[in-house]
This record gives sequence, structure tokens and C-alpha cells, in this order.
Amino acid sequence: MPVRKITEYPEEVLGKVGQPVTKFDADLATLCADMFDTMYEAEGVGLAAPQIGLNLRLFVMDCDGIKLIAANPEIVATDGEQSSQEGCLSVGKVPAVVVRPMKARLRAQDEKGEWFEREAEGYAARAFMHETDHCDGKLFIDRLPKLRRDMVVKRFKKEKNWK
Ligand code: NI
Repeated sequence: MPVRKITEYPEEVLGKVGQPVTKFDADLATLCADMFDTMYEAEGVGLAAPQIGLNLRLFVMDCDGIKLIAANPEIVATDGEQSSQEGCLSVGKVPAVVVRPMKARLRAQDEKGEWFEREAEGYAARAFMHETDHCDGKLFIDRLPKLRRDMVVKRFKKEKNWK
């Protein structure tokens, strides 16, 4: 399966609200397989469709024992609070501390279109929320205070120039 090119900040597609997934066919299964390959190659734990340039509400993840495909994802419940480091393949994995709920309940469709709900805590809950944000056109840096956001962007740009 081909590894796709990862879209990076500030490409426009990363800031767009994704279109719903409506076709649950062989093309979608192939796309998801490519997304897993791309994610593993980049050593990520989650990857959303906008990160390979597609304006779609779709993500894959394999994080903390939870491996799934989520089409049309929504976070339907949250609880508690956690404050840990987070990074994103589209921002060169430059880390920053993001405050998020400790637990999250995800509602989404699998590759066949079946709705499911899944609960997670800690790191995996963070992945649910981070990837669902991508489908809403939001990056983790959008959840940072301005000063910290600017620092992450600055570091990312600097790292890119070194390559
Ligand atoms: Ni990300």
C-alpha cells in the first residue's frame, strides 16, 4: 500500500471542516490502509484524512492498545482533565503541553459504515480528541495560549529550514 505525503501546517486543508464520509466501499478501505501505512511510517499514533490532503471526516489510530478507523467521528462525552505533551505529524511533532479531558467517548462509523462507541482514558483519549479536531479543521496548536502557539510554530519552521 502506498505511503501518502503528509500535509503540513499551514496548508489550507488542515484548517477546513471536513466533509462527511458517505461511501463505505472498497476505495474507503484502501484509503484507510494507506492511512495506516502512512501513520506507521511516520511513527505516529493517529492520522486524519486532512493530513494527507483530503477534506474528509476520517481518521485512523493505533494508540495505547486501541486500533481503529473512525469515519464521521464525534466526541460525545468527556470527563476529568489531563495536561500532557502532545505533538502532530503535520507540525513536525514539535511538542507542547495541551490541557484536555482525561476521558473521552468517541462515536464514529467503521469502514463498513457501522456506528460504534468507544471509551478511552489518558493517551488514547487524547488521540480521540486530537484526531477528531483534525476532522473539524483544528490543530492542537489552536488549543494553546497564543505565546506558546507562536513558539511551536517558530520551532517547526526552524526545523523545516534545517532540512
Ligand atoms: Ni495531528
